[in-house]
Amino acid sequence: MIDDEADRRALPGNGLPAERVLAEVRALRSADRPTHGGRLFAYVYDPAVPGLDELAAAAYAGSAHVNGLDPTAFPSLLAMENALVGAAARLLGGGPGSAAPDVVGSVTSGGTESLILAVKAARDAHPEIAAPRIVVPASAHAAFAKAAHYLRVAVDTVPVSASTLRPAAADVAAAIGPDTVLVACSAPSYAHGVVDPVAEIAEAAATAGVRCHVDACFGGWTLPYLRRLGADVPPFDFVVAGVTSISVDLHKYAYAPKGVSVLLHRDAALRAPQYFAYADWPGYTMVNPVIASTRSGGPIAAAYATLRHLGDDGYLRLAAATRDAVAGLADAVRAADGLRLMAEPESTVVCFTATDAGLDLFVLVDELAARGWHTQPQLSYADLPPSVHLTVTAAVAPRVAEFGPDLAAAVAATRAAGPVALPAELLTLATTLTPDALTPDLVAGLAAGLGLTGPAPAADSAGAEEAADPADPAVSGDGAGTAGPPPGRMAVVNTLLDAAPPALRERLLVEFVGLLQRPTW
Ligand SMILES: Cc1ncc(COP(=O)(O)O)c(C=O)c1O
Repeated sequence: MIDDEADRRALPGNGLPAERVLAEVRALRSADRPTHGGRLFAYVYDPAVPGLDELAAAAYAGSAHVNGLDPTAFPSLLAMENALVGAAARLLGGGPGSAAPDVVGSVTSGGTESLILAVKAARDAHPEIAAPRIVVPASAHAAFAKAAHYLRVAVDTVPVSASTLRPAAADVAAAIGPDTVLVACSAPSYAHGVVDPVAEIAEAAATAGVRCHVDACFGGWTLPYLRRLGADVPPFDFVVAGVTSISVDLHKYAYAPKGVSVLLHRDAALRAPQYFAYADWPGYTMVNPVIASTRSGGPIAAAYATLRHLGDDGYLRLAAATRDAVAGLADAVRAADGLRLMAEPESTVVCFTATDAGLDLFVLVDELAARGWHTQPQLSYADLPPSVHLTVTAAVAPRVAEFGPDLAAAVAATRAAGPVALPAELLTLATTLTPDALTPDLVAGLAAGLGLTGPAPAADSAGAEEAADPADPAVSGDGAGTAGPPPGRMAVVNTLLDAAPPALRERLLVEFVGLLQRPTW
């Protein structure tokens, strides 16, 4: 245990025994959401395969100090990286004997890096375009916006239908202009788990002579297996002629530890502008396929071990278990009073919304958390209502029978608690404030008022008070989920964020997370 002030420092005056340090890490970890056990529906992908964690950890440890900076110095990494790229390419319609025999790729640190590099390659393939643009469905992952922001590329957003949750290929085609360097689509989208009309979108892109990236980061490893199990999965990979690149995250449904995604290109010429090389300085000549220069071999070795151990048959079994879990969870949602599915599940997501205003989804998320189910709230967007997202993994399968009764009880408790009532002044603030008007004092006051940093929140929600565990703020990825307010306060925070327009949401999130990220001295 961490027992005194000075001992909390990462750099104590005197080094501590290994056992003691590990005990500290374990103690810190005990505050986290449960990464195993099939009750966490975001962030962590758990196949519940005995021994897999230990295997991956051993492989990770054995290569943790190996540096991917120079593939000639550490051929082990190059070999494992090439093997991972080959496996991903084969799974996604490429490789020898396929319609895309020349597929090449790189291992990146995650989906976001893969998407940034897909955008970079597309941008740098056209140095003659002064103000490059990308066409992106509104349902595509936020990492495209991040890529555009980092790379100074403009985004043309194509709306999605409120009923199908997909973009219309005709709208994508209409958005392509002379400065478009890339068209993106998802297979499937994270928020709702639906597969975009990839064939039509890729055809529109090809007709315009533009690259088409399929973001299969989330579900690219499961869709082929679901198809083999009989699901009606439309063509989404290199089988589609106009698809020029695909990303697939191994740290998601390939069940590898964090830090591994694969970015594939149909051929080496398409990949070439992804690289950065530099020889105009007195140090070592540098050539980087990815954003990082020094790269640990740990994640790559762990992913390699995971794929080798699970094998094709293992992934097929895990996909079947996941499919059954999805079906069971969707049935529970259908049976609940006042919930409806946002879309019929077609991959590994169950996403639902409320059918009446008496059922506050943000309170429901807290009520589910109080019962040990960690779901992910999604804020309202354009004409889409707020929703609750469940990323379903194979580990959920044995838990499905417990979910229905808990969901019903959580719904009843949510109705009894009633919707969150934000104080009028907070609501006015959320709807009228411009991001630039946020002062540090205002942010600190808001954070304290919401219970993020200080005293109890002013708003009233019985459901929130009963909750025993914090649920996610409606942000995905790192950040606000890493530390946070006291148990059960998130309905209030999410209600405030939901009332605000996206630009203010973004600014509030940055400020709130900034308050959490303070050094310990
Ligand atoms: C479809 C999709 N693309 C990209 C990403 C970004 O991946 P990462 O969090 O590994 O950067 C995600 C993450 O959930 C995703 O679902």
